[in-house]
Amino acid sequence: MELLDEIVEIVRECGEIILQADRNENVVTAKEGHANFVTVYDKKVQDILERRLKELLPESRFVGEESNRKDAVGEGDVFIVDPIDGTTNFIKDYHASAISVGMLRDGVPFLGVIYNPYLDEMYTALAGEGAFCNQKKICVSDKPLEKGIVLFGTSPYYEELSHRSFDKAYEYFGKSMDLRRSGSAALDLCAIAAGRAELFFELRLQPWDYAAGALIVKEAGGRVVTEDGEEPVYDRPCSIFATNAVAEP
Ligand code: IPD
Ligand code: CA
Ligand code: CA
Repeated sequence: MELLDEIVEIVRECGEIILQADRNENVVTAKEGHANFVTVYDKKVQDILERRLKELLPESRFVGEESNRKDAVGEGDVFIVDPIDGTTNFIKDYHASAISVGMLRDGVPFLGVIYNPYLDEMYTALAGEGAFCNQKKICVSDKPLEKGIVLFGTSPYYEELSHRSFDKAYEYFGKSMDLRRSGSAALDLCAIAAGRAELFFELRLQPWDYAAGALIVKEAGGRVVTEDGEEPVYDRPCSIFATNAVAEP
């Protein structure tokens, strides 16, 4: 089986774990930052992904949100994984969370898989080969900002960014049809890639929030940059502005 297909199967199995989660057993622990929590399922899914991806590519390294050990991003294959993107939604049973598996090869985005188990939508991309949802090719929209929807993240764990985030959101509210805030950056990026929205921004995200999604957007014909118009980095947090390449950030 091809590498991408194998990863898709592993991720799909993890999606089943999220769907079958016993909400009573949902042990929630606070992490550093404002309203930042982790559940036993974040850890469980990450452990499975780490073990299975290692079996698949023994030489690869692994960076996951829920581990203290963060392998360096450099040469070779490095997985950058968010076991549950949208943990607050998961805790609230809001049905808008995803598993995100990105892979860099020699420091460059090479593969992205994002799975929304609630809608059974599997987004995939390989560098240079386009982006897909459930194996159907996807493409960003061709609408300008004024005919578009803007998605944004509030950088909830960094209170110092709140005012600037909401100022920006207010600015885009005036320039677009409307705003949405889903609670999952990975799913927001997939929405841009699938042509369901025109612009997504968040002032600080961690590499596991966007490693897979940035590639999926680019392979769907979109543009992903930081607030300064630079390429996103994968060894530290950065801002993310993703568009359909028509809407101006
Ligand atoms: C969060 C979600 C959210 C975004 C936060 C992320 P988590 O990830 O993607 O939409 O606004 O900045 O940290 O904590 O649910 O994995
Ligand atoms: Ca996340
Ligand atoms: Ca997470």
